Amino acid sequence: MTRHFLTLLDLSSDELRDLLARASELKAMQHKGESYTPFNNKTLAMLFDKSSTRTRVSFEAGMAQFGGHALFLSSKDTQLGRGEPVEDAARVLSRMVDIVMIRTFAHETIERFARESSVPVINGLTDLYHPCQLLADLQTWFEHRGDIKGATVAWIGDGNNMCHSYVNAARQLDFNLRIGCPTGYEPQASTIAAAGDRIYLSHDANDAAKNADLVVTDVWASMGQEQEQNSRAAAFSLFQVNKLLMQCANKDALFMHCLPAHRDEEVTTEVLEGPQSVVWDEAENRLHAQKALIEFLLNASSA
Ligand code: CP
Ligand code: NVA
Repeated sequence: MTRHFLTLLDLSSDELRDLLARASELKAMQHKGESYTPFNNKTLAMLFDKSSTRTRVSFEAGMAQFGGHALFLSSKDTQLGRGEPVEDAARVLSRMVDIVMIRTFAHETIERFARESSVPVINGLTDLYHPCQLLADLQTWFEHRGDIKGATVAWIGDGNNMCHSYVNAARQLDFNLRIGCPTGYEPQASTIAAAGDRIYLSHDANDAAKNADLVVTDVWASMGQEQEQNSRAAAFSLFQVNKLLMQCANKDALFMHCLPAHRDEEVTTEVLEGPQSVVWDEAENRLHAQKALIEFLLNASSA
């Protein structure tokens, strides 16, 4: 059966935990210089409608390490950018490649693609979710602190794609999520409601950071919202992650950011470069977590 990864809810909690453990194993193997090439001759197609550094490089390097190949396909250069229906692209590409990753705007686009695809489809970010980033964040947490069950995470900032994926992660791995966002920038009510009482929503950043074991933020204007940069900067001015906000969290709280970061906007340089920040481990783990994901999807779909 073809398995897709469009949101964190596409895996069971147990599958997610196993995948995170596998990601750390693959990391250790790579750090030791061990060659592990189970996917010779396999091809990953990567469709990008938005910019990327980490997502592109981690998927491309990951496939190379596995002995396979990755194709970078920007919508500027494919027929998709000239209006070819996604359903047609899905039917054609899945006859040629073994697995597909898509970064696009509307989440519905990736759902339409997946419905017609006979090979696994991975969400490399949509306006609604960024589940691959959560795999890396969770792996980073597990490596630094152990299981996340029962821990308290504070999401400070926009109720955006990253925030929605944190809500799904709280639901899947049973941690508490305290969201601090300005009025009008809340995550989708239905996504929050599905996660039950694990979610606490506040319009006060310091309140949201209280007792947090992990503080996470993201840019104030996501890709596609560049025109709103100024109005968002005004709305989010009290939602910067700085030393004072970190003091509201637990003393040993970690700090994460999916990157790219805007220094001294959503996070101060002091916090981003400070001792509580694990953002570089987090970025590296995109590679290992996604290798575990590719392995899981290819093996599950050929079983
Ligand atoms: N965090 C993340 O997805 O980075 P890129 O936009 O560089 O891929
Ligand atoms: N929320 C950001 C994440 C970038 C990795 C965006 O969608 O632009």
